Amino acid sequence: DQPFPLPRDLEGRRVVVSAGGTAEPLDPVRTLGNRSSGRQGYALARVAAQRGADVTLVAGTIADLDPPAAVDVRRVQTTREMREAVLDAAKAADVVVMAAAVADFRPTDLATAKIKKGDGEPTSVPLTRNPDILRDLVAQDVPGRLVVGFAAETGDEHSSVLDLGRAKLERKGCDLLVVNAVGAGRAFEMEDNEGWLLGADGTSEPLPMGSKAALSARVWDAVAQRLR
Ligand code: CTP
Ligand code: CA
Repeated sequence: DQPFPLPRDLEGRRVVVSAGGTAEPLDPVRTLGNRSSGRQGYALARVAAQRGADVTLVAGTIADLDPPAAVDVRRVQTTREMREAVLDAAKAADVVVMAAAVADFRPTDLATAKIKKGDGEPTSVPLTRNPDILRDLVAQDVPGRLVVGFAAETGDEHSSVLDLGRAKLERKGCDLLVVNAVGAGRAFEMEDNEGWLLGADGTSEPLPMGSKAALSARVWDAVAQRLR
C-alpha cells in the first residue's frame, strides 16, 4: 500500500527519531502532558527502516501504535528522560529527527502523595522550563550529523505559518525544519498533514496534504540528499 517509491538510500545510516508527547508528573497519579499520538514519528521510523536505515525510535506518550518492524524502540515519559535517551542514541547517529511534542514545562514540585481536595488545596501549579533537546543536539555541533526539527504553527494576524517556521528554524539552528500548519481539526490525531520543509540552506518546499508516510518519505528524501 505504498504509492511512492522506497529507495534503499538510507542503507548503513543510523537514524534516531523521537515520537509522541512527553508527560510530566504532578503527583503519583497525575501528569501534565499533551495529545500527540506519535503517529508522525512512528511513520518516520517505519519508512527509514524500509529504506535501509538502522533506526532507534525514542517514544514518549503515544496512542496505541504497533511498533514498526526492525526498529529499536525505547520508551520514555518525561522530557528529561527523552533528552537522556535521545542524546545517548544520537552519539552514533547520522541523523536525528525530533518529531516529538516535547513538554516545554514541568511542575516545579512533585508531590509524593496524591493531591487532595479540601484545606490547603492548590489553586495553581508552579512550572519550571524543561531543557530543549533540539537545541542541545544542535549545540553539540557533531560534524556530518544532521538534525531535523518539527514545528506546529497556526499563524496569526501578523505572521504566516511559513514566516513563523523560517524564524523558528533560525532560532533553533537545525539543518531542516518540518513546519506543520495546525488549527482546529488539523494535524493532531489526524491521519493527514500539510506544511513546508525548510532547509538551513534557504530552501523551502511545500509538503502537500497527504499521509504521514508520504510526508516521511519527503523528509527522508531531503535527508538522503544532504547526507551524500
Ligand atoms: N523541542 C525539543 N525540546 C523542547 C521543546 C521542543 O527538542 N523542550 C523540539 C521539538 O521536538 C521540535 C522542535 O523542538 O522538533 C520545535 O518545537 P516547538 O514546540 O515548535 O518549539 P519551541 O522552541 O518549544 O517553541 P514554542 O514556544 O513555539 O513551543
Ligand atoms: Ca514547544
